[in-house]
Amino acid sequence: EIEFSLRPSTLAQYIGQDKVKENLTIFIQAAKMREEPLDHVLLYGPPGLGKTTLASIISHEMGVQFRSTSGPAIERAGDLAAILSSLEPGDVLFIDEVHRLPRSVEEVLYAAMEDFFIDIVIGSGPSARSVRIDLPPFTLVGATTRAGLLSAPLRDRFGVLSRLEYYEIKDLCNIVERTADIFNMPIASKAAIEVARRSRGTPRIANRLLKRVRDISQVKGEEEISLESTKEALNMLQVDDAGLDHVDHKLLLGIIEGFHGGPVGLDTIAATIGEESQTIEEVYEPFLLQLGFIQRTPRGRVITSKAYDHLGIKRTGED
Ligand code: ADE
Repeated sequence: EIEFSLRPSTLAQYIGQDKVKENLTIFIQAAKMREEPLDHVLLYGPPGLGKTTLASIISHEMGVQFRSTSGPAIERAGDLAAILSSLEPGDVLFIDEVHRLPRSVEEVLYAAMEDFFIDIVIGSGPSARSVRIDLPPFTLVGATTRAGLLSAPLRDRFGVLSRLEYYEIKDLCNIVERTADIFNMPIASKAAIEVARRSRGTPRIANRLLKRVRDISQVKGEEEISLESTKEALNMLQVDDAGLDHVDHKLLLGIIEGFHGGPVGLDTIAATIGEESQTIEEVYEPFLLQLGFIQRTPRGRVITSKAYDHLGIKRTGED
């Protein structure tokens, strides 16, 4: 699959997140010198910043197998036992959305992470008994949007906590150029910068936009993706100058038009614009906060003057 081949497979190929990369490089090297599995790693940050990619790079760098699942997919302790007991020594087990593991599964995971064994109860009633299963040592790589979503006991069992940040324009630009190269499609440097600028600091979005930009450029018969085609495609996709999309606009305008710019509670705004509170909080809001377009106050969300200016809307008297 194309999407997968876009993913870098080594830390050296991975662009951006320099601090995370620098730390992991040392921890991986040390673990290899000691011939031990890498300590458990928690990756957290907004979606699309490369948590899954980093997890698979870790397994590649450690020279072990990569096994992948997600919190909601592991429904019972027995599901976890099946996965863990099928690992080879040193393997990386990636659990996406690790904050969504059922509590009963999470409790079994504690001993697995700490001492590489699980206790599971078989049978029921008077004949129920607990069996201990020893596990091969492994590395758990957990991913979540915010570290604060994890229970304290689970968070405490990760030896490495790495926060992924929104990417700088120059890094996104390198990612866009690298992807264009994989597509075998030359891109003007101004066009690459434009895609980078309008990708909300997120490689997944940059690569998705680049695919649509490439479509327009190709249909126009260009030999190199031009700035003009890039702007045309991005406007067509309703991605504005700051990278805000249709939903961001709906969110900002919803608060401005319905609530005089706030403050307004998250659930109220979610109901007003017809999006899930959780999606707003984890996907849309972090970038709007980063841009300084929204502020969180004890009484709710408030739209800033910077956002009014960006949208070309004048504040009315009372706000
Ligand atoms: N493709 C998507 N994210 C990337 C990254 N961080 N580095 C290199 N290529 C990527």
